[in-house]
Amino acid sequence: MKLTWPLSVCGAFGAAGMIAALAQNSTTPTLPNGTTPYNLTVPAGLPAPPLPSDNRLTVQGVALGQRLFNEKLLSGNKMQACSSCHRPGSAFSDQGNALSKGSTGAKGTRNAPGLFNLAYQHDYFWDGREATLRAQALDPIQNPVEMNQTLANAVANLQKDATYPAQFAKAFGSKGITPGRIGLALEQYELTLFAGSSKFDLVQRKLAKFTPQEQQGFDVFRTPFNPRNGQFGGDCARCHGGPLFSDFKFRNNGLDANPTDAGREGVTKNPRDFATFKTPSLRNLTATGPYMHDGRISTLDEVVGHYSSGIVQSQTLDPGLARENGGVHLNASDHDALVAFLKTLVDSSFTKPIYP
Ligand code: HEC
Ligand code: HEC
Repeated sequence: MKLTWPLSVCGAFGAAGMIAALAQNSTTPTLPNGTTPYNLTVPAGLPAPPLPSDNRLTVQGVALGQRLFNEKLLSGNKMQACSSCHRPGSAFSDQGNALSKGSTGAKGTRNAPGLFNLAYQHDYFWDGREATLRAQALDPIQNPVEMNQTLANAVANLQKDATYPAQFAKAFGSKGITPGRIGLALEQYELTLFAGSSKFDLVQRKLAKFTPQEQQGFDVFRTPFNPRNGQFGGDCARCHGGPLFSDFKFRNNGLDANPTDAGREGVTKNPRDFATFKTPSLRNLTATGPYMHDGRISTLDEVVGHYSSGIVQSQTLDPGLARENGGVHLNASDHDALVAFLKTLVDSSFTKPIYP
């Protein structure tokens, strides 16, 4: 049986297993006056992240971003922060809630994803409607079913605070609190969230060993489903391959015969994108359930059941999944092994609250 796994992974994981410290490009614009470069550490095995050259990470900017991420003053009723729905001990997801409640108690229509390895993406939200983290960050503040606040009021609340005006001046080298700066600081903080120290990563670096069942699950994960060639794998790596466990492309993975959420089509207006959603990473899954864009699937067991025999036909169903006659039909042993493998992708630093 031939196993395929993107070459980039082998390359990345074959490299010496030390934590790589990233020197930021020195030809990019100078740092704001009085700031200190932030020493970003990226787990070995993850590729060098492309970082924005016009928002270089500084100690002061990241600290401000972290404070703002936890800041309830950014919401209309001063009761909700980003971290209310993106909880640090739950890989920055709203674990346990299919849909999140906004500050007024109203619910949105999509599941709050975990936040990590964001530096490698360029289309944020399930439908990819925002191209940068700085732009993305201003959406939940203003969204009526999330923080329900105007940017003007959010700025005014921070301006009235005893310490924010000085902290913004320190982070940006000059006085002034603006929506743009709120976005830049949140972006800096979010860019520092890397998940790449799971059991899987340790195994790649030969610092740990899979159990036989986990190894079987890894083989199921990366083996294609191609009965004519005698291949009966789960074929997961075709879309969730590489060290990020996603290529972040938009697809329909067969959840509905008559989808009600237009997904990516709402952004591109292209009917071929109807009901397609960004392929999510599979890291940290035990901390981020329930699963899928609307949180409809509660357990990893049921997720594997979906791909095994629950794939539903519709016009934009991914062509690879459409060939599979309802799924990859895993036997019970491969099914359980795949679930066991998925659990090796959890980075324990994302399952503990990191704030006091
Ligand atoms: C009420 C809950 C809630 C709050 C508060 C909230 N978010 Fe979210 N967040 C969500 C939901 C739900 C989504 C997915 C929405 C979608 O895709 O349409 C999301 C998506 C995101 C994404 C996209 C991740 C990806 O993989 O594409 C980022 C980044 C993010 N939020 C950051 C923030 C920041 C920064 C704040 C604070 C300014 C914040 N969120 C506040 C619920 C929330
Ligand atoms: C054709 C591409 C494709 C293949 C193959 C595929 N997936 Fe997915 N996967 C997706 C897409 C797209 C989504 C998001 C769908 C949505 O929410 O509407 C997704 C979502 C998921 C989720 C939910 C993650 C979350 O954070 O909500 C899990 C878990 C998952 N897939 C596991 C697997 C496993 C295990 C396999 C192999 C048996 C697999 N996938 C095969 C494209 C794929």
